[in-house]
Amino acid sequence: MTVHFIGAGPGAPDLLTLRGRDLIAAAPVCLFAGSLVPAAILRHCPAGARIVDTAPLSLDQIVAEIVAAHAAGQDVARLHSGDLSVWSAMGEQLRRLRALGIPVTVTPGVPAFAAAAAALESELTLPGLAQSVVLTRTPGRASAMPPSETLAAFAATGATLAIHLSIHRLTEVVETLLPTHGGDCPAAIVWRASWPDERVIRATLATLVDSAAGGPERTALILVGRVLGAERFDESRLYAPDYDRRFRPAAGPAA
Ligand SMILES: C[S@@+](CC[C@H](N)C(=O)[O-])C[C@H]1O[C@@H](n2cnc3c(N)ncnc32)[C@H](O)[C@@H]1O
Repeated sequence: MTVHFIGAGPGAPDLLTLRGRDLIAAAPVCLFAGSLVPAAILRHCPAGARIVDTAPLSLDQIVAEIVAAHAAGQDVARLHSGDLSVWSAMGEQLRRLRALGIPVTVTPGVPAFAAAAAALESELTLPGLAQSVVLTRTPGRASAMPPSETLAAFAATGATLAIHLSIHRLTEVVETLLPTHGGDCPAAIVWRASWPDERVIRATLATLVDSAAGGPERTALILVGRVLGAERFDESRLYAPDYDRRFRPAAGPAA
């Protein structure tokens, strides 16, 4: 018996990996975080599967579900939205399961920041503008921020910022970023990237709050950085004719 942690993607049911789909289809028990995992993904569960929305459950209750499946020798598909490597609460479950000696696998998923960048048709790292992306958040009720991980500190790097779990603090986010980035810095908000009701706004830091007025206060990413909508940036050397690399030697293919 194994618990398969599976990143269920950002929302669109076809943004699930084939491996994730096959694991779901083979597991007689499916535990899913109902707040963000799309119901359409549950169609991959086998007939008669035990399907449990864990949104209203405590960690103890979730582990009890897994322990019961373990006792019955039944594999579990454990679904979280996006990818499991960020804000999935997988870490605390893994720790409990390791202590209980219950085997696990982890299958990655498409993270929300990638779906938001796709909605914007943007590359978040452009030569000469930004070569790093900071995936961050502001403090919330469930999680405080380590003291050194302030938005102002990340802003000072000039990296592209993908700010999660913070749409309800948009004014504060903008006020924090204005001194480093300036009012003309491009910014965007993507609500529910890849869902049928996806919504996108592009603005500048100066106009972002007004542009977002009346928008939902959940499930949105705030993206800030000079890469957004940029047309003036350096070309990567990767495709330059004289750039020598293993797959395209500058001297041309060996005879
Ligand atoms: C608990 S975190 C989950 C992150 C997820 N594990 C991932 O890989 O993206 C939830 C936050 O991610 C962002 N998010 C998740 N799905 C999203 C989507 N489809 N569109 C925009 N933002 C999304 C929002 O900032 C939301 O508040």
